[in-house]
Amino acid sequence: MKIKERVLGRILRWWGPRGGLAQFHQPTGAVGHVAGWIMGRRSSNVARNRWAVRLLDVQPTDRVIELGCGPGVAIAALATRASRGLVVGVDHSQVMIRQARHRNRPAIRTGRVHLVHTPVENLSISEGPFDAALAVNTVGMWPEPTARLRELARLLRPGGRIALVSQPRCPGATAATSAAAAQELAGRLTEAGFERLRTEMLDLDPPATCVIGYVAPA
Ligand SMILES: C[S@@+](CC[C@H](N)C(=O)[O-])C[C@H]1O[C@@H](n2cnc3c(N)ncnc32)[C@H](O)[C@@H]1O
Repeated sequence: MKIKERVLGRILRWWGPRGGLAQFHQPTGAVGHVAGWIMGRRSSNVARNRWAVRLLDVQPTDRVIELGCGPGVAIAALATRASRGLVVGVDHSQVMIRQARHRNRPAIRTGRVHLVHTPVENLSISEGPFDAALAVNTVGMWPEPTARLRELARLLRPGGRIALVSQPRCPGATAATSAAAAQELAGRLTEAGFERLRTEMLDLDPPATCVIGYVAPA
């Protein structure tokens, strides 16, 4: 089902300050299920996730990890591309893991997608090293994000890549807000040791930004 972006924007502007925002940070219970339902169907959200996956340039045998995978929209796009590889999705919300599982059932059954219910700050994953990592509208929610990005760099193979996406959803966000978010992400990636950074923009309202970086080659 399609939800009109403008109608949804109005609902979210009302709901955000009344507890809705928390449901996008860690969806829980029935209300969290609604937040996930929205994230899985809002056209800008779906477009942003698919765009990020395209930028990550996933190859058929790649092993990819997505942090804060939410309802699993990007996981589905990643699994389509990594047709002979592996996609690991991580989220600290049980409700989101359930929705992501529902959305990706066939790929889970064939062992191409693995979903892990854990906070990124307690990440303990044995499936690495990964070729690529993705995080969409979630890095700002993590405790000590730069430390988390350093840990992620260690999960990637030498020369591996990462894409961090931000589309600010705060009221009144503009292209300038998005540009500032991109700068902050780029700064964190540099501090975490990633190199050859490049920033891309997707023309949404407000724009989505994606900063791509690489681990140093061996
Ligand atoms: C705004 S949602 C974005 C979801 C998805 N990436 C998307 O764009 O549709 C943020 C997601 O990050 C997850 N998240 C936030 N902090 C987290 C943490 N510390 N560890 C794991 N997941 C986290 C939330 O549960 C939520 O699913």
